[in-house]
Amino acid sequence: MHFDKCVKSLLNNDICVLPSETVYGLAGSALSTEAIKKIYRLKGRPKNNPLIVHVLDHQSAKSICYTNNISSALALVFWPGALTFILPKKDCIPDIVTAGLKSVAIRSPSHALFRSVLKKTNIPLAAPSANPSNKLSPTNASDVINEFGVDCPLVLDGGSCKYGIESTVLDLTNPIPKILRLGPITKLDIENVIQTEVKDVNIYELPINDGSKPISSPGQMAKHYAPKTPIRLFLQVDEFLKFNFEQNSDIIILSHPLSLSKQWQKGFSVLYFSEGGRPEDVARNLFKVLRDADNLNKKYINLILFPQNKKEYSAINDRILRASTIRI
Ligand code: TXA
Ligand code: MG
Repeated sequence: MHFDKCVKSLLNNDICVLPSETVYGLAGSALSTEAIKKIYRLKGRPKNNPLIVHVLDHQSAKSICYTNNISSALALVFWPGALTFILPKKDCIPDIVTAGLKSVAIRSPSHALFRSVLKKTNIPLAAPSANPSNKLSPTNASDVINEFGVDCPLVLDGGSCKYGIESTVLDLTNPIPKILRLGPITKLDIENVIQTEVKDVNIYELPINDGSKPISSPGQMAKHYAPKTPIRLFLQVDEFLKFNFEQNSDIIILSHPLSLSKQWQKGFSVLYFSEGGRPEDVARNLFKVLRDADNLNKKYINLILFPQNKKEYSAINDRILRASTIRI
């Protein structure tokens, strides 16, 4: 059975693909330099971009990092789930996992299959998203198989991911907690639990980083998750409506079928992120719809940024901004 094979390969310092509630992860023992090298190699991931380590619960986190009162309070509410903590690492975690940093990213996934693997192997598992570096994150087993092709390791199929975007990354190594990557758990969700202010990134001002320069703050590279077809991102609806699209070379993705009049959409290749525009539905379908659009092999994928003042779309806008090549 796939499950047993997977457990065996992880115990042998080999790698395999596991489903999680956020996106699929490319997993290997976080205690094994050999396994971690395989992850970096297969992803083509820059050596300066550290990995997330997955554990069953906050108690098991203590064997690999120094937890604190804040992580404890947050884990009580959000673990298992889509919240990753950055905490000071313990020596058992090899430097290669954290790209030489003294801190480690750690999360407890809620997906039943991932948890069964964690239980059975009884080792912390490093698992970055199971996509080649800078490509779209996978939200289905077939996404992973299509991307890695003949090099694809064993994939445990756990269906399509519940959230569809990667976990929120929260830095807890300084007195004031700081969100490094927006995700399903919001700043407000976190503040409501710890009753203190949390800093976050201004996603609308992220510098573009093409991977050639060292990263001072990992997880904050603007260029990421991109499809092959360039994305032309419209920051305002007005600019989008004024634009002269070409029916043969442009594909348009809208929030939902009623977000622009049927009359306007006539004649264009149009895809939709969701049925009704609810943020959780848009997030769940985001990478899938971008892949579908990419597979149509047009010249441009055209998107409109969700309203910047609607915080419920911030994590989605973050991914869209990182995926886009042209901003209008
Ligand atoms: O939802 C998720 O988090 C998925 C699933 C599989 O768990 N994993 C994931 O991993 O998205 P990855 O490697 O694609 O993203 C990890 C992010 C990167 O942005 C990395 O730079 C950041 O976490 N990160 C890891 N360790 C860090 C550290 N010590 N300090 C700051 N950022 C760190
Ligand atoms: Mg990733």
